[in-house]
Amino acid sequence: MKGVITKVQVLQHPVVIAESFGVKVLWRALWAGARETFLEVVLRSAEEEAHLGMEEIKLVRTVKLFTGFECRAEAIYLRLSEEFAGAPEVARFFSTLAGHEEGHAIVLSRVRREVRNGRLWKESRALHAEAVEGLEARFAEYEAEVGRGVTLARALSIVEGLEGSELNVVFDTLNGGVDMRSRSRFERFFVLTQRHLGYCSEEVRRLREMHGL
Ligand SMILES: [Fe+2]
Ligand SMILES: [Fe+2]
Repeated sequence: MKGVITKVQVLQHPVVIAESFGVKVLWRALWAGARETFLEVVLRSAEEEAHLGMEEIKLVRTVKLFTGFECRAEAIYLRLSEEFAGAPEVARFFSTLAGHEEGHAIVLSRVRREVRNGRLWKESRALHAEAVEGLEARFAEYEAEVGRGVTLARALSIVEGLEGSELNVVFDTLNGGVDMRSRSRFERFFVLTQRHLGYCSEEVRRLREMHGL
């Protein structure tokens, strides 16, 4: 997996890592190969959900699913940043977005851990079955398109399509549904929904203007 968030960046904050993901993840991150991303370490270290009740199991499943969607969004944006390598400001926009999405996957990995540790404080009621189906179809369509190659105009409307979908809503619900120790200290490392969406719409507008779209 290509990743944006490197081990070096992450290891500057060992206390936050240990507090958020446990000592095991910190230890593994310390010894991870140079090419392994922090997200990969976290995903590799995710514990089994053996002793959970039915509700928690369902919720953990949803969190895993949405972690997967965040990773797919990252992959789409990385692909687009390669596609537009000839226009540095466009490439930079897409690689920045990829970094945001990678961060969201890391946040959801922590949410999963908190649910597992019984730190769910809000029922996230029967989460979003239709949302999942819709997103699945939308992702499949965008992945195929981006794989074939798209124009800048289309790439920007794909950004709007993804960011206007249920993805961010569900992310906020899941992230807000657990009781997270030192939340603000942890969240400082990520660009979460509000700032992420602000950045998207601002940059999409700017790039359209710049490229006469
Ligand atoms: Fe995201
Ligand atoms: Fe996003």
